[in-house]
Amino acid sequence: MHLKSLLLVVGFWFFHKSAAYNFEETLGHLKPKVSAKTQEDAVLGMIKRTTPNGYKLFLVKVDPDFEYSGREAFKIQKGTDGLIRITGTTGVAVATAFNYYLKYFCNVQISWEFSRANLPEILPEINETITLNDRFRYYQNVCTTSYTFVWWQWEDWEKHIDWMALSSFNLILASTGQEAIWDKVYKRFNLTQKDIDEHFTGPAFLSWLRMGNIRGWAGPLSTDWHEKSVRLQKQILSRIRSFGMLAVLPAFAGHLPRAFKRLYPEANMTLMEPWNNFNDTYCCSYLLEPSEDLFIRIGKAFIHEQIAEFGTDHLYSCDSFNEMNPTSSELSYISRIGRTTFDAMTVADPKAIWVMQGWLFAHDILYWTKERARALLTSVPQGKMIVLDLQSEQYPQYDRLDQYFGQPYIWCMLHNFGGTLGMYGSFDIINQNVIKARNANSSTMIGTGLTPEGINQNYVIYDAMIESAWRKEPQDKEEFFRLYTVRRYGKANDKVIRGWDILKDSIYNYKGLLKIRGKYVITNTPSLRLFVWTWYNYTYLFDAWDLFLAAADDLKHSPGFLHDLVDVTRQVLQVYGDIYYKNLMTAYRIRNINKFRDVAEPFLDVFSDLEKILATNKAFLLGPWLESAKNCSSSPEEKIQFEYNARNQITLWGPKGEIMNYANKQWSGVVSHFFLPRWKLFVQSMEDALQRNIKLNEKLVKEKMFKEVEEPFTFDTTHFPTEPHGNTIEIAKYIHAKWRNRVDFHDKMLRRIRIERSSEEEFGILEYDEFTPEVLIV
Ligand SMILES: *[C@@H]1O[C@H](CO)[C@@H](O)[C@H](O)[C@H]1NC(C)=O
Ligand SMILES: *[C@@H]1O[C@H](CO)[C@@H](O)[C@H](O)[C@H]1NC(C)=O
Ligand SMILES: *[C@@H]1O[C@H](CO)[C@@H](O)[C@H](O)[C@H]1NC(C)=O
Ligand SMILES: *[C@@H]1O[C@H](CO)[C@@H](O)[C@H](O)[C@H]1NC(C)=O
Ligand SMILES: *[C@@H]1O[C@H](CO)[C@@H](O)[C@H](O)[C@H]1NC(C)=O
Ligand SMILES: *[C@@H]1O[C@H](CO)[C@@H](O)[C@H](O)[C@H]1NC(C)=O
Ligand SMILES: *[C@@H]1O[C@H](CO)[C@@H](O)[C@H](O)[C@H]1NC(C)=O
Repeated sequence: MHLKSLLLVVGFWFFHKSAAYNFEETLGHLKPKVSAKTQEDAVLGMIKRTTPNGYKLFLVKVDPDFEYSGREAFKIQKGTDGLIRITGTTGVAVATAFNYYLKYFCNVQISWEFSRANLPEILPEINETITLNDRFRYYQNVCTTSYTFVWWQWEDWEKHIDWMALSSFNLILASTGQEAIWDKVYKRFNLTQKDIDEHFTGPAFLSWLRMGNIRGWAGPLSTDWHEKSVRLQKQILSRIRSFGMLAVLPAFAGHLPRAFKRLYPEANMTLMEPWNNFNDTYCCSYLLEPSEDLFIRIGKAFIHEQIAEFGTDHLYSCDSFNEMNPTSSELSYISRIGRTTFDAMTVADPKAIWVMQGWLFAHDILYWTKERARALLTSVPQGKMIVLDLQSEQYPQYDRLDQYFGQPYIWCMLHNFGGTLGMYGSFDIINQNVIKARNANSSTMIGTGLTPEGINQNYVIYDAMIESAWRKEPQDKEEFFRLYTVRRYGKANDKVIRGWDILKDSIYNYKGLLKIRGKYVITNTPSLRLFVWTWYNYTYLFDAWDLFLAAADDLKHSPGFLHDLVDVTRQVLQVYGDIYYKNLMTAYRIRNINKFRDVAEPFLDVFSDLEKILATNKAFLLGPWLESAKNCSSSPEEKIQFEYNARNQITLWGPKGEIMNYANKQWSGVVSHFFLPRWKLFVQSMEDALQRNIKLNEKLVKEKMFKEVEEPFTFDTTHFPTEPHGNTIEIAKYIHAKWRNRVDFHDKMLRRIRIERSSEEEFGILEYDEFTPEVLIV
């Protein structure tokens, strides 16, 4: 027997023995198609971009046969010549090794906001071989494209794809440019330009167009937009494939523009239910019955067209029932939908694998009983579907649905909704449960993933989750946070290390079932009935804040520290907003106008100070979001349209505030021009009501807020700075000195209260009936 075949045999034996579940038979064809050389070049390019001073010190080699388990692996070694040699099964594996070395041996961090990537003079010794835990590491949520990437140019993508490679992701949702494909397909099915314009939403809302939730809102899309996005998608695909990553492309889920009803009156299609209050102009496409011939014809045409333009790695993302239930609940019907959806993929690409977001099962647990879920999941041959268990850190479904009845799944941390800010994370859960799920009896877990709706917040928790790729055991929590701090700030400062140590057990250790959605008093629509809640004791946050400030002078040159000092100060002010709100409501309810005025002043002052601190850091500015939106336009009209898209998404989310505040941003510019003015108006109206001794007409005030503040903000075109101003440390110190020891803060009326709730209602803010103040005030 030749050595190589012997190794193969040993390799297969090893694989069968080590992996709980073997899907190689159905997923074995999912492999990079580019050469080893291409992958090596991709990695070298990345090293050059991220670590200019270390470029010549790394020798990289891609050898697909280096490991036989079907999983990716790498070996990294420092030679006697002082150079670091990395061998990996793919470009991604090599990039992961490179980051592994930077992270654990050189204390370097490459994150979303900034990189601290200077290598030490003498490269530390290393000699390690690691096989990654699972077959896949998946990245992106169908919403990330709208909340984070919508206005990105190639330079942004290039940097981000480097980060993906460093972070070991090998399965990437690539959804850019699909409307250009649909445009062609719709025209082939005889839709007019007008029909299509009525259907496509604006750029900031494409995720929900694609899932059939809305249509036409803030649209249409221009030819120029289509051309640009096709170009961009080609660049993205080419780059991710060059690293040996696989792209997941969209497929037809059955949603059709209204015009299909006119053009194909015989076809059985159902108008979908309205979604989140969108009226008939903007909601409700048709859902085509899967039994119709037309279903396969459209699905096939789309995939053909897409392959012609973008090629394929045989992975297709498709969600027929995102936040909407099937028209019939018959098991046979559900199972037929599943089968036809899959057939429409395989007719065009016989090697197709269906990647399905498992969000539906978590979103509507009552509807998706085990039987219905089984009907859908088993309608596709075993191993031909990959389920993304989308929010495994809070609502895992893999146990409830018996390991997806045998279909492979990926354990994903969703963490963020709407790209909102607010410190938050579930460290212990991700640290323990990924490993438990992988090792569970008959586990069908084949990967880990990140599925945030928006990024650029809470990097620490993403950094921790990424380590699931190679960690075999839960990590030492204290050690993780300490080293994270050193890497991020470039220095071991005891005070800030203690600060993070406090945060890790409080803010970053959420374990509850209530939904956290970035809604706090300051970001919410003013109301007399806001429910204020936190999962952590405020005291800890204030203590951590003290420590951050105590470390400030020592770390004043660290961009990572300056970013985080803004974030912690922001968090503190967010909490002060909650606290003073409670106080304000108490004063209002006991109808004490002097007390009310005493509290109203600091309450509104929270916003002014928040605006000041946010303005000092580029990551917390409205300006770049708006400018990058305008940058994508190709005509004066489009410039206005795109700015409107950008402003509407982060505020009203819909023409009339249909999903108001969902994607709110605690950014300089939003605070001064949106959050503050509406609260000012509301507080003023409360004071008037007190003075005139009448009941506040909340409905009227809300209408006024909408007309005078909220809606005008979305139509406005005021320019906001794209560069920060003000000194972060000075301003943080000023805010700290001003707020930390206020006496009114220790008023007994402000004592923090804890409310246990078992329901699944959304929080931090719940509206509750007026005058049930026992919920709020102790
Ligand atoms: C590197 O580690 C491997 C396996 O632990 C060992 O066999 C080898 O001798 C080491 N190489 C060096 C240069 O230390
Ligand atoms: C489009 O319309 C033409 C002319 O009526 C017709 O021949 C053709 O079959 C239609 N295409 C499709 C895909 O229905
Ligand atoms: C259309 O499909 C639905 C769901 O399967 C079915 O109940 C209905 O009878 C069908 N209508 C026609 C006209 O075939
Ligand atoms: C839906 O709302 C928009 C914006 O408020 C309005 O222009 C349109 O007329 C409404 N459509 C219907 C059908 O009510
Ligand atoms: C897995 O199954 C084995 C054999 O049936 C059993 O001994 C073991 O306790 C099970 N482990 C878990 C974690 O359920
Ligand atoms: C919050 O923490 C502080 C300091 O440890 C403690 O005194 C206080 O009782 C805690 N409050 C609650 C509600 O647990
Ligand atoms: C706008 O586009 C130009 C050219 O691509 C680029 O240099 C600039 O940074 C962009 N500005 C923003 C705010 O994205």
